[in-house]
Amino acid sequence: MKPGKIVFQGKSKSGRQIIFRYPAKDDLKSAWEYINTLSKEKTFILFQGEEVTLENEEKWLEGEINKISERKAIQLFAFASNKLIGISGVSMRDKAEKYIGNFGISLAKDFRGEGIGKLLTKAVLKETGKNLKDLKIITLGVFGNNSIAKKLYESMGFVEFGVLPKSLIRKGKFIDHIYMYKKV
Ligand SMILES: CC(C)(COP(=O)(O)OP(=O)(O)OC[C@H]1O[C@@H](n2cnc3c(N)ncnc32)[C@H](O)[C@@H]1OP(=O)(O)O)[C@@H](O)C(=O)NCCC(=O)NCCS
Repeated sequence: MKPGKIVFQGKSKSGRQIIFRYPAKDDLKSAWEYINTLSKEKTFILFQGEEVTLENEEKWLEGEINKISERKAIQLFAFASNKLIGISGVSMRDKAEKYIGNFGISLAKDFRGEGIGKLLTKAVLKETGKNLKDLKIITLGVFGNNSIAKKLYESMGFVEFGVLPKSLIRKGKFIDHIYMYKKV
């Protein structure tokens, strides 16, 4: 898939114009600012205040672009008025797990609760169907107290298959990690 290729243009529930597209090398600064803002927020993601260096972000972005071109991953960046406001994708595992892909999603704080998460998830699933030929099962992990994300995943057909009790630390509290899957 070509870096920068647009796969969706539409409006959020509040009428904001949004675009989903594949990442490109030029997105480095935006992606770097994006992840560090989310990390500082300590939202329901694995980064909980850790700072990502520009060098590490560059490695991550280049790695994702390569995996996309090798059809081992889908990664879509969401933009509103040219600002990066969300990232979602699926990364294939390997060896005996090569038919499994891991899903992830996040949106910038000011853009949540207006349907963009659902649109982005749908767009990612559509792209996986077209490009990840080996994919048979999608898995994800979600903070046990992240009811909005759980609701979103259930509405997209994900089913819970396990819990690692009190295994995530967020804002000083131990939280269950819930695992979900969906057959494709
Ligand atoms: C989780 C996340 C991706 C969801 O995206 P979103 O755009 O906020 O969610 P949507 O507006 O598409 O809504 C998804 C569902 O949650 C519901 N929902 C959204 N905001 C809600 C709120 N504040 N209270 C209750 N329900 C809510 C919606 O009604 C919708 O349900 P429906 O399909 O039955 O209508 C986004 O909120 C986010 O990035 N959160 C922070 C990071 C995170 O949690 N990432 C997931 C890690 S597992």
